Amino acid sequence: MYGAEKPPGGESERTAFRQAEKKYKLYYDDGPLKSSRKKKRAKPVDVSDVIDFEAISEAHERGGELPVGVAVVRCGFGRPVFCLEGRPGFYFIPGALSLEEQCQWMRESLLSFPQPPNRSNHNAIYGPLQDLFAAAKERKVLVKDESDGDRPTWKFVDEAEVPLRGNGCTSYPASALLRKLRWSTLGLQFDWSQRNYDVSLPHNKIPDALCQLAKRLATPAMPRGEEFRPEAAIVNYFASGDTLGGHLDDMEADWSKPIVSLSLGCKAIFLLGGKTRQDNPIAMFLRSGDVVLMAGEARECFHGVPRIFTDKDTAEITPLELHFSRQDDCFLLEYLRSSRININIRQVF
Ligand code: OGA
Ligand code: MN
Repeated sequence: MYGAEKPPGGESERTAFRQAEKKYKLYYDDGPLKSSRKKKRAKPVDVSDVIDFEAISEAHERGGELPVGVAVVRCGFGRPVFCLEGRPGFYFIPGALSLEEQCQWMRESLLSFPQPPNRSNHNAIYGPLQDLFAAAKERKVLVKDESDGDRPTWKFVDEAEVPLRGNGCTSYPASALLRKLRWSTLGLQFDWSQRNYDVSLPHNKIPDALCQLAKRLATPAMPRGEEFRPEAAIVNYFASGDTLGGHLDDMEADWSKPIVSLSLGCKAIFLLGGKTRQDNPIAMFLRSGDVVLMAGEARECFHGVPRIFTDKDTAEITPLELHFSRQDDCFLLEYLRSSRININIRQVF
């Protein structure tokens, strides 16, 4: 998926999936993101075709009818689980995570998931980075440690130390690196350059609490009596304007097993396409606490995230904001206000 983006202007630009990505993507009123330095205003986007499972769920609880194409599965799960006609194996559980769970996993995604031996997008350039979040919070700066012979290593130091190191010292604020954190991997490490799991890379097991959560959430998509075995997870970090292009997750051996996907932070639009990019994708909102399962045929469907909403009135993160402000965690609060995190958990073998 990352790195497997389509060439500009080619055939793929004209597919139905690409058209939908363009429709929902963030544009600014005065041109695209990069060309403007003025106060930017997001161009309004027509979301009338975006499925809103929260609204559907509320109407359903009140005894209302389900929209055409949407069904509810009875699986003794404790809350309504929705599926879509024409996309067998796809499940949507609105508000599956409590506020406490959302806060817990958001915190872990920033503080512990990017810790070595887990890898992140920063590994390729800086090697393993320890305590990125704490360093950003303490306004530290990443500098190249020249003393270490031929293989340069990087380390976080106090801001005040940088001038002492002379003009030639290459340095990056930890806060900028945190903003550029795009992914980290848990459990078996996914190698993006080979697009495969590299079982030879050192790794820790998926944390037990996340494992238990994923097993419970996976049940609607599992054959009765079978248990989901979480072996790897990819954590995606989205800032305003970030997207996840249309892709398939096809590196796991058994596609009958679901991918369990948790949404945290700002609201997003998710596109669920068909088996080719030519199929018209279905758009839906993903809010903090929503869970998506993709198993069986749905694993053959292109999907992606063309948009996250970071404006105060559209992000829908007020309960999370209140929670973190009560905890006096201003740094996390600021991060949350412009970010979305997705944890997707997989059984690899
Ligand atoms: C993925 C993925 C979806 C999301 O990482 O493979 O599809 O909701 N993520 O971010
Ligand atoms: Mn995916």
